[in-house]
Amino acid sequence: MFIEISRVSKSYRVGEVQICALKDLSLQLEKGGLYVILGPSGSGKTTLLNILGGLDSPDSGEVSIDGEEITSFDPRGLTLYRRRKVGFVFQFYNLVNSLTVMENVLSTKYLSQDGLDPEEVLKKVGVWEHRDKFPYELSGGEQQRVAIARAVVKNPALILCDEPTGALDFENAKRVLELLEEVNRDFKTTIIIATHNVAISSMSSIIMRLRSGELVEFSPNPRPVPAREVSW
Ligand SMILES: Nc1ncnc2c1ncn2[C@@H]1O[C@H](COP(=O)(O)OP(=O)(O)OP(=O)(O)O)[C@@H](O)[C@H]1O
Ligand SMILES: [Mg+2]
Repeated sequence: MFIEISRVSKSYRVGEVQICALKDLSLQLEKGGLYVILGPSGSGKTTLLNILGGLDSPDSGEVSIDGEEITSFDPRGLTLYRRRKVGFVFQFYNLVNSLTVMENVLSTKYLSQDGLDPEEVLKKVGVWEHRDKFPYELSGGEQQRVAIARAVVKNPALILCDEPTGALDFENAKRVLELLEEVNRDFKTTIIIATHNVAISSMSSIIMRLRSGELVEFSPNPRPVPAREVSW
């Protein structure tokens, strides 16, 4: 299995209160899939993505990605793992505002050893003509497509998307979903999208639902819906 999560728990301490973000969570996912994790606000989606991406560590349990047990890595090991293996796409794009579109993409290309051609990737996401602009000169949808280019150019094994359409209108959200689908198909990148939008979960080859830090549903979806047919 490409992703193996075994009995992962994570809680946060806020003052006197202990908040349990993930409770004894286990799941396995195959390489090359497009997966959606559905759950309401506070259900643990971001916590789970952060652990998968090596941005955070669980209190207990093990996580293996592509045969490497990342939960045994020290901070340096986790940094290398993040650089080489993972691309991130966030709700609010997180582009570097003082860098142009091309520079944003180049900034992550150099983190990986076998990055893709930035020109090819910028053309693929449809922002090649904007390559010399700064992020604030682009619409939200265009910025998110640059953010996807920045994740894809590293040619990572895994792309983690945290509410990637949360700040976009319907048309732009659809475009972003179609693009993620295309990346999954063309580059065989395993993609995980976290969202509270139930319509988006129909794209997933496995229906996964989190509630209060627990995986309350994990069932194969025999007929994933193409992004262009997703509607809400
Ligand atoms: N750094 C933190 N410090 C304290 N509590 C946290 C922290 N990160 C998350 N939590 C808590 O853990 C729980 C799960 O949070 P998480 O951000 O994973 O949920 P989410 O499903 O991503 O929610 P949303 O849809 O609102 O983004 C919540 O109760 C949240 O308040
Ligand atoms: Mg979140």
